[in-house]
Amino acid sequence: MAKIRTQVGIIGAGPAGLMLAHLLHLQGIESVVIERQSREHVETRVRAGVLEQGTVDMLCASGVGERLEKQGLKHHGVELRFDGRGHRIDFQDLVGKCITVYAQQEVLKDLIAARVAYGAPLYFEAEALRIENYESQPRIEYRHGGETHEIACDFVAGCDGFHGISRGSIPAERLIVHERHYPFAWLGIVARVAPASEELIYTYNERGFSLLSMRSPEISRLYLQCTPDEDIANWTDERIWEELRTRMATRDGFVLKDGPVLQKGITPMRSFVAEPMQFGKLFLLGDAAHIVPPTGAKGLNLAVADVRVLTRGLVEFYKRGKREGLEQYTERCLRRVWKAQRFSWWMTSMLHRFPSEDSFAHNIHHAELEYVTGSRAASTTLAENYVGLPFDMPGLF
Ligand code: FAD
Ligand code: PHB
Repeated sequence: MAKIRTQVGIIGAGPAGLMLAHLLHLQGIESVVIERQSREHVETRVRAGVLEQGTVDMLCASGVGERLEKQGLKHHGVELRFDGRGHRIDFQDLVGKCITVYAQQEVLKDLIAARVAYGAPLYFEAEALRIENYESQPRIEYRHGGETHEIACDFVAGCDGFHGISRGSIPAERLIVHERHYPFAWLGIVARVAPASEELIYTYNERGFSLLSMRSPEISRLYLQCTPDEDIANWTDERIWEELRTRMATRDGFVLKDGPVLQKGITPMRSFVAEPMQFGKLFLLGDAAHIVPPTGAKGLNLAVADVRVLTRGLVEFYKRGKREGLEQYTERCLRRVWKAQRFSWWMTSMLHRFPSEDSFAHNIHHAELEYVTGSRAASTTLAENYVGLPFDMPGLF
């Protein structure tokens, strides 16, 4: 069994784990990252696409924004569509900020390339099995190359997503879980066709929600509301395009061109928060601690926001011997997490068709869409949340 010693043991090479490792490296704090999947898998897994301004600023300020600046698509607004009409929410005008469309796997490629270039430890196909002694002297046991190894560290960062072992290592009676399940899911596709709009379109339709997004001027990313137990085998490419066309149709003849479907999958919808986010020397970050439904485009951005808080706490600890930032980790993260939960739940509720909707619910629903798009005050609250609320602690650290 190989034994490694480091300051911070990081489980998971998603946005949370890789961003944390990168920021710690810049601050002269050592870490080891272990990731269960292969590098290729991590670099090709299709997930998020919308980056808040604060996330972009952090990537650029930490030296990994070169490709993002060149290839990221800056969007100054989004469209909400219902009753066959589009209504633009102008972020630039309302709150003076924008978002950037740049795929999650591209962010990961940039962070991996940086870590490989400065030669810091990052092990793929290395699966964490157990976390021991997280109250005193933590150890992570992991499997790599058919053998069991160990990392001894001062702190463990559990960045292993919703199904990882970090949250699972904590006895259930010590965790408080807040949860909502939704009676629908998203069927998402990536298609080789130019996006039918320059900006994202969120559509509410009697047949259900749909979303037009993109990855580049040649690649579209589209989603449609489906049932949570939907069998993807029932959705041929033709049926998906037909349904998208029906839901997104406008009175002035919007044209949604189809193209080869490169990838398709079903994403469940869930709101979830586990607290606290710290247990002794074990910290939970990103999806390991909280999940938002994707309608607000907040998951990756929240993971990066947790990283900011933990990095600051660790820097204060190692450089100034102060523990306050680490002790307040949960409280500092949760303030933002709950605001993002509220926004994601609200966007989800407003834009999806609930199976239980009676005529009262339906009319309230409709009135809400009209209010949000018709009132400058209401549009501003959407814009302010969508581009990302300001951080409690501005500055990188
Ligand atoms: P993950 O990205 O889940 O990373 C966890 C990593 O840990 C994985 O690589 C996993 O393989 C690894 N791991 C797990 N267990 C172990 C183990 N035992 N040992 C070692 N490694 C392990 N968010 C946005 O902000 N904007 C969007 O537009 C958006 N759109 C989305 C669209 C879809 C379809 C989906 C599914 C999600 C979307 N999200 C979006 C959410 C976003 O993708 C996640 O919130 C984000 O990936 C969370 O990052 P993370 O690092 O916390 O976890
Ligand atoms: C995406 O491009 O994948 C995307 C965009 C906006 C969302 C969710 C996902 O709300």
